[in-house]
Amino acid sequence: MGGKIRVGLVGCGHIAERHLAAYAGLPYAEVAAACDPVPGRARELLDRYGFAEAKSYSGFEEMFAAQTFDAVSVCVHNALHAPASIAALENGACVLLEKPFASSVADAVEIMRAEKRTGKFVSVGFQQRYSGSMKQVKEICQSGRLGKIYYIQTGGGRRRGLPTSEGFVKKECAGSGALGDIGCYSLDTVLDALGYPRPTTVTGYTSDFFGKKKEYEFSSAFNVEDFAAAFIRLETGCVIDFRIAWAMHPDTSGDTLIYGTEGALRIPSTECWNSGAERDMTLYSDVDGSMTETVVPLAEKVDRDECLARKVEDFARAVRDGGRAPVPTSEALINQVIIDGVLESAKLGREISVEIPEV
Ligand SMILES: NC(=O)c1ccc[n+]([C@@H]2O[C@H](COP(=O)([O-])OP(=O)(O)OC[C@H]3O[C@@H](n4cnc5c(N)ncnc54)[C@H](O)[C@@H]3O)[C@@H](O)[C@H]2O)c1
Repeated sequence: MGGKIRVGLVGCGHIAERHLAAYAGLPYAEVAAACDPVPGRARELLDRYGFAEAKSYSGFEEMFAAQTFDAVSVCVHNALHAPASIAALENGACVLLEKPFASSVADAVEIMRAEKRTGKFVSVGFQQRYSGSMKQVKEICQSGRLGKIYYIQTGGGRRRGLPTSEGFVKKECAGSGALGDIGCYSLDTVLDALGYPRPTTVTGYTSDFFGKKKEYEFSSAFNVEDFAAAFIRLETGCVIDFRIAWAMHPDTSGDTLIYGTEGALRIPSTECWNSGAERDMTLYSDVDGSMTETVVPLAEKVDRDECLARKVEDFARAVRDGGRAPVPTSEALINQVIIDGVLESAKLGREISVEIPEV
């Protein structure tokens, strides 16, 4: 493509600011417009980051009717991921879509159909992939050093970290609770390291004991899960033992452990995996018949804001160069199928089979 890419922003709340800050640092990107229904919010954000020439709108329909874009960041609550992304693709833009992929598998499939129709791509915003530690995890898993990987324990949790905004705790807006908000990151980390194998069955459990406590400001609106646990079987034979919490009594959900036939990896727990591990990993194996432990120092410490900036930059570069989606929807769909599967299994109280829909 060459030259500057014209960028649009859908939603000007919390995470949109990180997108705008990142675009502001890219000499080949020009933010041309932003929209948000809260009066003045889009204008204020654009002006703060030096995009005085950019137009502001109160909604994405109006914005896409008035202007065309090469790239659009979709930073609205999950139920709007599908309508906003589809409208952006039909406008002729590629999309950087905030995580989770969608509020349901059905919505995710609609987005992928629009990608096919328009020939544009959607990249899903799993910024933890840009952390040094997550790259190391993938490299170690894919090097074969662990042998055949057969068991993974992963997840995360905040001791107290219920959302401070209603859009995250109402099923109509979010689709799911802790699972979609933070569980999607830990699932993405291990699935990406394994090359995104397909799941075959899911056994899920969910609860809402903390979200429903009357001390919590949004307890009366709360109708999603604040905790989920699951046992996920993958087509490779590997199983994932998973848990995620917005709130819980223990201070940790435990480290991530990856067991292979030739070695294992322990990644110190992070609260919600939205960036990298902060402490060194340990690699376990046998050397000449002796059990050994090797500390794998973090290659590069990348904080969350820097991961977010790299995610935007990688996306913008792919748009400029006519490249591929850094985090393709074919992978994010598998993540979404697991999330929906955990919710469905929890509702039914039994293990279910899951399939990846054809698009
Ligand atoms: N990657 C990350 O680290 C990260 C962090 C937080 C949130 N997120 C994701 O980003 C998305 C937004 O979360 P947030 O925390 O920024 O929420 P937010 O509530 O701070 O911002 C959402 C914004 O969208 C606006 N909006 C609502 N309807 C709209 C419409 N029709 N057109 C345009 N704008 C509209 C709202 O007014 C609000 O300003 C969610 O999907 C969330 O999961 C990602």
